[in-house]
Amino acid sequence: MTTRGKFITFEGGEGGGKSTQAKRLAVELAASGLEVDLTREPGGTPGAEAIRGLLVGGAVERWQPWSEALLHYAARLDHVRSRIEPALAAGRWVICDRFADSTAAYQGFGHQLGRESIARLHRLVLGEFKPDLTLILDLPVELGLRRASARGGGEDRYERMDRAFHERLRQGFLAIAATERERCAVIDASAEPDAVFAALRAQVRERLGR
Ligand code: TMP
Repeated sequence: MTTRGKFITFEGGEGGGKSTQAKRLAVELAASGLEVDLTREPGGTPGAEAIRGLLVGGAVERWQPWSEALLHYAARLDHVRSRIEPALAAGRWVICDRFADSTAAYQGFGHQLGRESIARLHRLVLGEFKPDLTLILDLPVELGLRRASARGGGEDRYERMDRAFHERLRQGFLAIAATERERCAVIDASAEPDAVFAALRAQVRERLGR
């Protein structure tokens, strides 16, 4: 029987370098002989990428907070069922740039829907499905927003939300990490990219043995 693959997620606020680091981890794990599927949220399937367009651009106020949370979960359900689950079942390791903790942090803490409400939504839609390891790239809000705005690209609806929103979601990620220590590792993302990678690479080796 095929051994189920591992599911690794990257999380954190804006400008922490998640995408670059996730790509680098995918390349290293693939070079070590694993089959790796690198993906992202919102997105990862044609349907979920279409929903992404509704969420990351346009006016800050275009959605009610609950509409936003439901759109993220509509995208996530499609992504999990048609891509992530089949890959894990086939023995591939899946690396995802953002996942459910982003809804807990951005909509639960940032938009103040509450962590428990988002946890209930998660159980309703995806049951107990969760990552094997979550790497939370943490950095001061000011620095992250500066880096993110330098990147440009038009997918900046969340970046345009106010400072207090970003401070709340940063504290949200740290609160999640504090209560789910066996799943989550907080990585200092204000360091140089090579140092950030070394820190998260050590966590993967220590916790997942690769
Ligand atoms: P990205 O910039 O990391 O690609 O993510 C797109 C934006 O979507 C980012 O600003 C965070 C936000 N987001 C949420 O608010 N809730 C979610 O559940 C996810 C996955 C992303």
